[in-house]
Amino acid sequence: MKDHLVIFDTTLRDGEQSPGASMTKEEKIRIAKQLEKLRVDVIEAGFPAASIGDFESVQAVATTVKDSTICGLARAVENDIRRAGEAIKPANSGRIHTFIATSPIHMEKKLRMSPDEVVERAVWAVKLARQFTDNVEFSPEDAGRSDPDFLCRVIEAVIDAGAGTINIPDTVGYNVPEQFGALFNDLLTRIPNSDKAIFSAHCHNDLGLAVANSLAAVQNGARQVECTINGLGERAGNTALEEVVMAIKTRQDVFDVDTRINTQEIVPASRLVANITGFAVQPNKAIVGANAFAHESGIHQDGVLKHRETYEIMRAQDVGWSDNKMVLGKHSGRNAFKTRLQELGIEFETEQELNDAFVRFKELADRKHEIYDEDLQSLVTDNNIMRVENETYRLVSLKVSTETGESPEAEVTLWIEGQEQTAKAQGGGVVDATFKAIESMVHSGASLLLYSVSNVTNGTDALGETAVRMEKAGRIVNGQGADTDIVTASAKAYINALNKLKDAPVKAHPQADV
Ligand code: KIV
Ligand code: ZN
Repeated sequence: MKDHLVIFDTTLRDGEQSPGASMTKEEKIRIAKQLEKLRVDVIEAGFPAASIGDFESVQAVATTVKDSTICGLARAVENDIRRAGEAIKPANSGRIHTFIATSPIHMEKKLRMSPDEVVERAVWAVKLARQFTDNVEFSPEDAGRSDPDFLCRVIEAVIDAGAGTINIPDTVGYNVPEQFGALFNDLLTRIPNSDKAIFSAHCHNDLGLAVANSLAAVQNGARQVECTINGLGERAGNTALEEVVMAIKTRQDVFDVDTRINTQEIVPASRLVANITGFAVQPNKAIVGANAFAHESGIHQDGVLKHRETYEIMRAQDVGWSDNKMVLGKHSGRNAFKTRLQELGIEFETEQELNDAFVRFKELADRKHEIYDEDLQSLVTDNNIMRVENETYRLVSLKVSTETGESPEAEVTLWIEGQEQTAKAQGGGVVDATFKAIESMVHSGASLLLYSVSNVTNGTDALGETAVRMEKAGRIVNGQGADTDIVTASAKAYINALNKLKDAPVKAHPQADV
C-alpha cells in the first residue's frame, strides 16, 4: 500500500491573491464544487478576515461542499483565528491554517518580533485555533529562508500545541529541489515529535521550480502538497495541481505515494478557473495547455498512430480532454441538452436557469452547426446565465460598422437600472469603439488592465471567450463574455466587469503587516 498524498488546493486563497484574480462568492462556489468533483482533499477557501465578502465566501463554500475539508487562513492574531473558526463552522470537516513568519528578514523587518516572541505567538495561535477545530495547520512563513534550527524549535512546539499539519512554505520561490527536499529530510529526522504531524510543501514559482520543489519534498517525506489549478498565484504563481498530480500518477515507479484525484476533471477545472479569473492558459502549458497533447510534426503523428506510447506518456482523455466530437446540434431537444449537461456535471438550481440556458443553446445552434462539450461549458459560464447578483447594466443591442479607410463605429444600447440608453462612439477598432460607447453612458472611470480573446473550439464559427480586467481605486475585477461574435463577447465581458466593480471589496492581504 502506498501512502496517501493529501492534495490541498489553494486556488481560492493563494490563487486569488494574484492581482486581478479576485472572484465573487458565486464564482468561488462554482470553483469549489469543481474542486470537490476533482476530489481534492482540502480546499483552502479564502482568508475570512480579509473582508465580509471573503468571510461569506468561505462560509458558503463550507456550507456547499461535503466531500473535501474546508480550510480558512488566519494570521497568528485573535481576530483572524476567530473569523476563520466561524467561517468554517458549517463544514462537514473544517480546518484552520494559521501562520507566522520565521525567517530572520521577516521577523526583523516585517513583524519586528524576536524569535522567542514568534515561538510564543505560534504556540498561542495553534492553541486558540484548536478551540474551534481539531484540524489545525501551521505554516512558518518564508520557511525556505529560515534557519533550520529555529524551524525545528518552532515546529516541535506547535506540534505539541496541537497542530496536525505542518506546512513548509517557500514563500518567495527561492529554493531549489535538492535543498528543499533535504530540508524536509532534516526536519522529519530532527524534530522529535515529527511523526505526530503531516508535513506539507507550499511552493512559489519565481524560479520556475515550484513543481520540482514540491516533488522533491514528497520524495523526502512530505505527505501533503499545496497547489493551485493552472499554477495560479501571485507573481509567477504556485505549484500547479495538474502537474504534481499527473507526475505522481505517471511515475508510480518513482513515487511512494498516490492521490485520490479524479484526473478526468482536471481540464474542466482548468477551463473554469481560466474563464472566471481571465488568466488564460498558455498553449504549451503541461497537461492543460491546448498543445499539451497535440502532435503536430509528421514524425510524431506517424509514431502515435502506429503505437501511442511512442510519443505519449499520458492519455489526453485521462486528464479530461474530450475527443472534440460533435455532441449536439440545431435539432437537439431540451432533454438531450439537459442530459449532456448532466453528463458534464453541470446542474442548475432552478428550472428557469435551465430554460434560459436552453434558449441560449438554441440561439447558438442557429449560428454554429456543431456544438461541442466546450461550447456547452462556455455557454453556461456566459454571464447571460451566471449573472452577477443585482446587476446594474445589461447589453440590449449592439451595432458596429467598419470599412477600410474609415473609423470603426459602434452603437450600443444598454439597460441601466431599468432604463434603456443608447450611445455611439468611434474607436481604433470596433471593440475600442464599443467600449467607448459603453463608457460614455456609465462613466465608470475605471482603467482597463487587460483585454483578451480566445476561441473555445476550432473554426471561424467557434465561440469566442473574452476577458476584461478593470481597476478602480484599488479594486480589481474580471469580466467574462462568450459569443460567436467576438465584439458582442467583448461588450458582454466589459459589462460583466462593470457589474462586479460596484460591489468589489477592498481586501486585507494576509501576508501584509499584522
Ligand atoms: O506563501 C506563503 O508563505 C503562504 C502562507 C500564508 C502559507 O501563502
Ligand atoms: Zn503562498
